[in-house]
Amino acid sequence: MSLNAFSKNLLTWFADYGRKTLPWQQPATPYRVWLSEVMLQQTQVNTVIPYFERFMQRFPDVDSLAVAPIDEVLHLWTGLGYYARARNLHRAAMLIVESGEFPNTLEDLYALPGVGRSTAGAILSLSGQGIAPILDGNVKRVLARVYCIEGWTGNPRVQQLLWAHAEQLTPTRQPQVAHYNQAMMDLGATVCKRQPDCLICPVQAQCLAYQRGTTGDYPQRKPSQNKPVKRWQMLLLKNPQGHVWLQQRPAKGIWGGLWSLPQFEQPADMHAWLQTMTQSIAVEPLPEFRHTFTHFHLDIEAYEQTTSALVPSTLGVWYDPNANTKIGLAAPVKQLIAEHAHYCTG
Ligand code: ADE
Repeated sequence: MSLNAFSKNLLTWFADYGRKTLPWQQPATPYRVWLSEVMLQQTQVNTVIPYFERFMQRFPDVDSLAVAPIDEVLHLWTGLGYYARARNLHRAAMLIVESGEFPNTLEDLYALPGVGRSTAGAILSLSGQGIAPILDGNVKRVLARVYCIEGWTGNPRVQQLLWAHAEQLTPTRQPQVAHYNQAMMDLGATVCKRQPDCLICPVQAQCLAYQRGTTGDYPQRKPSQNKPVKRWQMLLLKNPQGHVWLQQRPAKGIWGGLWSLPQFEQPADMHAWLQTMTQSIAVEPLPEFRHTFTHFHLDIEAYEQTTSALVPSTLGVWYDPNANTKIGLAAPVKQLIAEHAHYCTG
């Protein structure tokens, strides 16, 4: 069977740039690959390496791991985090010893505690035992961009689509499948990162998102993190007594009826307002912060100005932050005043 252009380009790249000397690759026995893949589930390669080596020294095979006290396994895991992985590893070792042989099919690997579909595929393929696709976080990111896959990659429908693409691209022979799967993880970790280096990517020509200039749109975030973002300018206008200029919000809409700072949707609107009201557009920027509503994020660019110029009083009031006046303040306004205008006179 001839390889598709994507796999061909990726395998050529792997020969030059792929990771081939990781400790669990020499030799890539099923036991070593299994141990490394479980360690790599939530942890970066560089962190895993010394743990893997200590583990292999103490537990060189599945039999030694199966008979070890769990406390010793957990002790060697200390610092890696996600300790359920160590408990599952130990339980799986006992099951494997009980069964008499190391599992060598996708189904039997998948049945082990702590081994999901992608980890099972990685163990089978990277140890040269069989053919299976993988779909870890790195691979999801690559495929979401290559095919411009809409939706959050945790969504079952999206996952189904990603698996279908992974199956279709994965070579059906060894050792290509081992190289291909390792290459996909390496590509995701070193090139197709969150901020991708498309100019050095071997599959640029096969990547739909690259061609459309939309790599930044994939993979899409979890829907709840997908709220639109608005950006407003807010003005913390102080008089020489340290009082803050507040305006009451209209009864309807955001912060209806609450007292707030003059707010603008464009810097130019803020400047025009300042020019009219205080005769000076000179302002000091305050640290930007985000306030999240049910339906959108609001990034607030706050600016400060101290002025002695009079603002017509019908449009607002000078509020004394130290006077404990009981008025309803919008939450970010309360925060801005507390951080930047509240002088304790003790
Ligand atoms: N992440 C998960 N498995 C990996 C592997 N075999 N090499 C590099 N990163 C990985």
